[in-house]
Amino acid sequence: MIGVFDSGFGGLTVLKEFIDKNSPLSQYDYIYLGDNARAPYGDKSPEVIYKYTQEAVDFLFSQGCRLIIIACNTASANALRKIQQEFLPNKYPAKRVLGVVIPAVEAVMEELEKSANLKKENNKIGVIGTRHTIGSKAYEKEFKKRDYKLIIYSLACPLLVPLIEEGLIKKVAARMILKSYLRKLKEKKIKILILGCTHYSVLFEPIKKIMGKNVKVINSPQAVARKLIDYLARHPEIAKKISRRKKRKYYTTDNVDQFKHIGEKFLKEKIINIGKASF
Ligand code: DGL
Repeated sequence: MIGVFDSGFGGLTVLKEFIDKNSPLSQYDYIYLGDNARAPYGDKSPEVIYKYTQEAVDFLFSQGCRLIIIACNTASANALRKIQQEFLPNKYPAKRVLGVVIPAVEAVMEELEKSANLKKENNKIGVIGTRHTIGSKAYEKEFKKRDYKLIIYSLACPLLVPLIEEGLIKKVAARMILKSYLRKLKEKKIKILILGCTHYSVLFEPIKKIMGKNVKVINSPQAVARKLIDYLARHPEIAKKISRRKKRKYYTTDNVDQFKHIGEKFLKEKIINIGKASF
């Protein structure tokens, strides 16, 4: 089984790509965990984000996962490195945990490679995310490891996750807040914008519209799915140990009925097999 973890509903935008019937990833079994009772993570300290992420990883491994995708930028940016370098080698040396920051950075690099107009130095890239994703500078650090000299403008948009979790994104007030955040990046004349929070994928179309046709918007769930296909092809020893019966199981740390109700809107699919997780 593959575990998919997020603080709440945002990771469902990633799972949606994995279980898309046209994706080779849809053959695998998945367990989704949303830590809705403690969401949002975006304003919590890095220590707390690490503790919550470690508990989620423990839970998903205890359910039989071989591989976990942390489908949350906040947890990927603040906890993944320590999970990979300290927690796994000590406790689960044969298991793997991957995140969502590197796939989005690689998607930008692919975009730069293929677009002649973007090849010059000093391209302006925008990143939006939660306060602690932006505060961690995880995207800047990843970009620094690559060849291109880029100018990164990152912007925390702390009001967006609560608006999305509350189902208020279609309200006029929400659109005004979104516009006012994005205006700051439009003024910088960025060429590419990374949605550095899995929740923001549900705002992909309005964000694209606000940014205009000269800005390429990177929707990270699709990038994460592409990179997972690559990863499993490069690691057949892991791929062959993952069960493939197209099973889907959902866990939330909060109210199961509410998870089902809101989750189905994210997933655009029925959520049937669902339970409450406690750890
Ligand atoms: N989906 C998470 C992310 O990608 C949400 C953040 C939160 O819980 O604040 O960052």
